[in-house]
Amino acid sequence: MKKILLLLVIFGLAIFAQEKKKIAFGPYIQQMTSRGATICWSTLEGQPSITYPDGNVKPIREYKQHTIHIARLNADTKYSYDVLNDGSNEGKGTFKTFPDKIEPFNFAVLGDTRSRHKIHKKITELIIKKEPLFVINTGDLVGNGRDINDWEKFFDVNKKLMRNIPYYTVLGNHEKDSPYYYDFFDLPNNEKFYHFTVGDALFIILDSEGKEIKEPAFISKENSDKFWEDSFKEYFKTEKKWLENVLEINKEAGFVFVFQHRPMYSIKKSRVEETNKYRKQWGDFFEKHHIQVFINGHDHHYHHAFKNGVHYITTAGGGAGLYETDMPQPETVKYKKIEHFLSINVNKNDAVIHVIDINGNEFDKITVKNRKLK
Ligand SMILES: [Fe+2]
Repeated sequence: MKKILLLLVIFGLAIFAQEKKKIAFGPYIQQMTSRGATICWSTLEGQPSITYPDGNVKPIREYKQHTIHIARLNADTKYSYDVLNDGSNEGKGTFKTFPDKIEPFNFAVLGDTRSRHKIHKKITELIIKKEPLFVINTGDLVGNGRDINDWEKFFDVNKKLMRNIPYYTVLGNHEKDSPYYYDFFDLPNNEKFYHFTVGDALFIILDSEGKEIKEPAFISKENSDKFWEDSFKEYFKTEKKWLENVLEINKEAGFVFVFQHRPMYSIKKSRVEETNKYRKQWGDFFEKHHIQVFINGHDHHYHHAFKNGVHYITTAGGGAGLYETDMPQPETVKYKKIEHFLSINVNKNDAVIHVIDINGNEFDKITVKNRKLK
């Protein structure tokens, strides 16, 4: 009898060890350069539980994050990897390093993927077909960044895409400055504002959220609002100085794409006033620095505005419920209340932004010239 019990315990431990090893999220590709790559994945470590006052017991799964950095790779080369090496396909994937010279490439942009997972999934499937070099999500990846259940859904939807394509993210208000965000993603610089380059194209990711100090809450809401505003002013100054430096160092860039979560121009009536504040904050910064394209999320629809040489594009049709387009602005060129993504071809002399709806149909196209041709 004792022997049988011992065998059962050993068998149980073996199953638990196997379960622990199993990949929960990923593997997925993060930072990419022409010489290096980063691969991440998570394993399930345990299942603590929380008991609610009504007696309901809920498991809160705990994950362990794994990250490997691979160096000394060749540019513009496809590699395959296996993070498990256990004979299964679970840990397998591929990636392609960035080119180290100027040559055409394609990348995709989607935003506000936080809910309606079927829509999000359909958009990711359309993106995969385009075989982009990388993907950028303009923020609000999930409904609540502090809820692990939302990240479980996000990584499940993206399982196929992120396994083979680098996935860069912009911090949105719904991420709630969550520790999960910084655990799961491996991004350049401070992970809030950062940049990377491909050929002569410069990609700048800005943080429009600042320090999220709503948690822990302040006793007085007025004090909280004032402290947030004051600290954001300081934070914004630091971010702007960093941006000026990045633009100066990369002044030979032929294309400059800037991304942040919140828009400079809104066509949603209740948000127009807020965007006036952001435009005042930045002034003529983007036109002065010859930024060609500014892409944001936050307003759940498509909107293209143009002013003084800068294209302002809202792309936030990746899953969240759509918003009204009830207040077009003088700068508005085109808008549509529809789920969509951007597929952008960067060529030697121009970059072509294809706006594609959830049915795979292109409904807008914007062409920008290489800055060196002007
Ligand atoms: Fe948002």
